[in-house]
Amino acid sequence: MVSEVDSVLAEHELDYETAVNRLPYTTAAIKESLRLQPSVPVDFKTAVEDTVLPHGKVRVPKGMIVMYMPYVMGRMPSIWGEGAATWRPERWLAPGFRPTAYEYPVFNVGAAACFRMWGVLILMLLRRRCVCVCGCCVDAFPSQAGPRTCLGQNMALLEATIAIATLFRSLSFELRSTNVTYQPSVTLPIRHGLQVVASARQS
Ligand code: HEM
Repeated sequence: MVSEVDSVLAEHELDYETAVNRLPYTTAAIKESLRLQPSVPVDFKTAVEDTVLPHGKVRVPKGMIVMYMPYVMGRMPSIWGEGAATWRPERWLAPGFRPTAYEYPVFNVGAAACFRMWGVLILMLLRRRCVCVCGCCVDAFPSQAGPRTCLGQNMALLEATIAIATLFRSLSFELRSTNVTYQPSVTLPIRHGLQVVASARQS
């Protein structure tokens, strides 16, 4: 990532065009990090009317809460292959690699997606009933995850790419935190923060 930033920024301004088109490894590293550490690790929706999951096996009555876990889905070998637990940005650069929004739900946990997710859906029925479904719904639906997908996903990737390129072009970072762990939450913050020491890079 640092060598990509160095070589690209030696020849181009760090503008919109560069961030979108010339830093593919950096953007891949961000996507890969979000796969393993999704900002929204668990989410749920409530059915506003009676429905049935696309594979036809599970009834979802009005009022049922449907809970699903992008954190778990990002680590499933059935979606990502045997190296699912490994941080490997290169996977995003392989020709033809384009996971659907149902396989990579980090930005796509909108209302339609939660009923149409390919992978594991953990269904918790309030009022003391609970169902767990593992099934493939992908054939039943097109490859968009519904109308309530994150509106800011492209902007978020753009901002993160620019922020990382800006930092890494002039600084290097040394990890000081030990025992890095999560603070359980609706989002996925790091407990006690992540302590690093930043140093100016030698030019
Ligand atoms: C890494 C950054 C981000 C992640 C992982 C993320 C993820 C998500 C997720 C999971 C949802 C669906 C929440 C739900 O319905 O339960 C969502 C919705 C939304 N996000 Fe983001 N988001 C990010 C950045 C942004 C940014 C930068 C913006 C705006 C500039 C934004 C705007 C929105 C909006 C407007 C919705 C609601 C869409 C709707 O319900 O119709 N997000 N986001």
